[in-house]
Amino acid sequence: MVIVYRSNTGFTREYAEMLGKAEHMKVCPLSEAQGKVGPGESVFFMGPLMAGHITGIDRAVKQFAVKGVCGVGMSPASPQVLETLSKANYVPDAPIFYLQGGWAPKKAGWLKRRMVNMVTRSTREALRDKGSRRTPEEEAQYQMLVGGGSFVAFENLDTIREWMKER
Ligand SMILES: Cc1cc2nc3c(=O)[nH]c(=O)nc-3n(C[C@H](O)[C@H](O)[C@H](O)COP(=O)(O)O)c2cc1C
Repeated sequence: MVIVYRSNTGFTREYAEMLGKAEHMKVCPLSEAQGKVGPGESVFFMGPLMAGHITGIDRAVKQFAVKGVCGVGMSPASPQVLETLSKANYVPDAPIFYLQGGWAPKKAGWLKRRMVNMVTRSTREALRDKGSRRTPEEEAQYQMLVGGGSFVAFENLDTIREWMKER
């Protein structure tokens, strides 16, 4: 199995490279996969979330045998996030995973930055109004939403690595 990924601001790439190193797997960006990854070859696909959709998944499914999928977004991981993701990104016979990446407004371009600012406004306002009552997790999420930040961590890959070992 090969790890194929899409990444706009680098968080998914970081996860893909970490996972490839840990599992001794080939890692390839989707844009370079043609010719390097055979058609019908087994692939673990990773892509950033945009409005709930895993970027690149449609192309990956058309080109390769996708055996597992992972969406990388800015929300903290939770069963609800995973459920919404599974409903919006169904891939037959492939489990779906979610990882929290981060938010890099400086790399995003003005339109995408505006879109994200609009979508996250109510969350930011609710967290801002909590002030010093924010939990450490909420504080980290608030700081990321306001100025950017990364939640990429090796241990977040545990569930995916366990699944890879079992198959
Ligand atoms: C236009 C736009 C829409 C986004 N939509 C979502 C979303 O629906 N859910 C989410 O968790 N993150 C969303 N994000 C945040 C990205 O998925 C997040 O920053 C991710 O870590 C980017 O990965 P990358 O650095 O590999 O591109 C969105 C970002 C942009 C720019």
